[in-house]
Amino acid sequence: MKQELTQVIEHDNFQGEYRILRLAAPVVGPLVQPGQFLHLEVPQLGERILRRPFSIYQADASGVAVLYKAVGRGTEAMAKIKTGDEVNIIGPLGNGYPPADASKTPVLVAGGYGNAALYILAQRLEKKGIAFFGGRSALDILLVKEFEALGWDVRPTTDDGSLGIQGLVTDAFDPWAAEQDVQSLEVFCCGPNPMLKAIGERAIERDFTAWLSLDKNMACGVGACLTCVIKRKTEDGWEWARCCKDGPIFESREILWEE
Ligand code: FES
Repeated sequence: MKQELTQVIEHDNFQGEYRILRLAAPVVGPLVQPGQFLHLEVPQLGERILRRPFSIYQADASGVAVLYKAVGRGTEAMAKIKTGDEVNIIGPLGNGYPPADASKTPVLVAGGYGNAALYILAQRLEKKGIAFFGGRSALDILLVKEFEALGWDVRPTTDDGSLGIQGLVTDAFDPWAAEQDVQSLEVFCCGPNPMLKAIGERAIERDFTAWLSLDKNMACGVGACLTCVIKRKTEDGWEWARCCKDGPIFESREILWEE
């Protein structure tokens, strides 16, 4: 984990309400592993958005990019950041996805712009598999061409049927999974918690591995404030685990979901 004063090299509309923020970050960029996140501070915009967590969409030796949805007070303020501004970041944070099991077929499952957080994993995995992306409408399904260009078989679903199958991401995943030897699959998920829970339940029921990137409110981002705790199963009960430091990635069997 490093702190770096970065410079904005691109800040544009991406699609619908989504924006891309690209930062020159030669210290943090090379350290990023799939599934990790950043904490961003934008001093000129004041305390309101002092340090917010953002999933990392792209990273390389020269920098990082985040894709975010410009809704809510903090992200509206974010939208005012201009090319050339300085942005202080701390990262990479979190555990990231573990190395993939090369004997298994990787499957990506994402809700909304959760798939941006799976893009580095999709790039770096040698074996390409199936990607199930769900969203409210076609405007909420990002990066289809980008994942396809990497060699992934993308299966979109939308609530309104404007792209792919109409329904939830599980409406595409379930019939497909019913025909698979699911124990040969390794599933990587990012998106809203109800979707993660649904995939996690299937993983336990049918005995396949599913890595879930939990979506919890975070404050400090570095394990100190305990804002982001979840219950993690232990041999004789459960313990608190911090999503920002012990996670955000947990295997489905580790999580004790709150009702
Ligand atoms: Fe502070 Fe996780 S956000 S401990």
